[in-house]
Amino acid sequence: MTTTTKTLVTGIQPTGRLHIGNYFGAFHQFVELQNTHESYFFIADLHAITSSEIQKDSQKFNEFINNIVLDSLALGVNPDKTCIYNQSEIPEISEIMWILSNFITVPTLSLGHAYKAAKSSKKELMFGLFAYPLLMASDILSVSADVVPVGKDQKQHLELTREIARKFNSNYKCDLLKIPGGHFCDMEEVVGTDGRKMSKSYKNTIPLFSGKENIKKSVMGIITDSKKEGEPLDPSTCTVFKYHTIFSKGALSDIEGRYKSGKINYKESKEILVDSIISYFAPFEEKRKEYENNSQLVSEILEKGTAQARGKIVEILNQIKKTVGIL
Ligand code: TYM
Repeated sequence: MTTTTKTLVTGIQPTGRLHIGNYFGAFHQFVELQNTHESYFFIADLHAITSSEIQKDSQKFNEFINNIVLDSLALGVNPDKTCIYNQSEIPEISEIMWILSNFITVPTLSLGHAYKAAKSSKKELMFGLFAYPLLMASDILSVSADVVPVGKDQKQHLELTREIARKFNSNYKCDLLKIPGGHFCDMEEVVGTDGRKMSKSYKNTIPLFSGKENIKKSVMGIITDSKKEGEPLDPSTCTVFKYHTIFSKGALSDIEGRYKSGKINYKESKEILVDSIISYFAPFEEKRKEYENNSQLVSEILEKGTAQARGKIVEILNQIKKTVGIL
């Protein structure tokens, strides 16, 4: 790896099965960029504990973690090009978080979207959720990332990361912490089956690797208007059509024509979509089975990825400590 190679990092929370929002928000770009970057991909298990759902069932949480490793490998995160690791296996990330916590104010963290949402829904306000962006900053700054491929919902977290890095650098008059850039997908954000942002917490996802029946169930449940048989449908406002623009590219103009001329109903449009989604992800399903049947290989991948990433993170932690005056 030459010194001019840029560094890439992204993380996924194991809070349930992956969905197509995760795929287009993060994986799609990451898989391309890993070919030209020094790359780090991790399972954000420490972030996931901030979810009260995750706190209810530790065995299920553990299954989610294992599944996301397999899903990620199947979706093209390449262990020959990328360090793959569980965040909790590298304790130095949390140590860096503590030091960085002194370079962000409580009022700034109070502006975090997730914290504000929890506050307005009158949920119990836990410190972990409040500090979520700070841990994310540590994930990013601990590998000196140049680029972070994420969905647009993570924009605020990236801005906070930059703010922390700038404050640290300015306080110590150094440029130790690299200011990262974002890398967002072209889509504003992948919508869920109810038209809101696709999110596990809204239960409006189209899941990956959960079997054809679950894809069918989600797609058939997409909310549409109540136009009568034979009436023209409006593709510009239809959630089913939005998904066709991603998955049915070859047949898109035909489907659009049938929408406008009233020659398709929502049921048929959804059935076409189910087939398109299943064939889009079929090669990934095959690859996932291969990894599922080779748990030894998966353990080796994680061990190697953790060791390599940890080496770099320890080095950065030591530089941070030296800068602060601890070493
Ligand atoms: P998570 O698991 O919630 O989401 C993982 C990735 O999927 C993207 N995403 C979406 N993109 C488009 N449309 C959607 N509907 C949609 N839903 C999810 C997210 O933007 C994200 O890129 N905070 C991160 C995890 C994390 C992280 C990091 C990421 C922790 N530390 C450091 C990058 C770098 C998250 O929300 O994960």
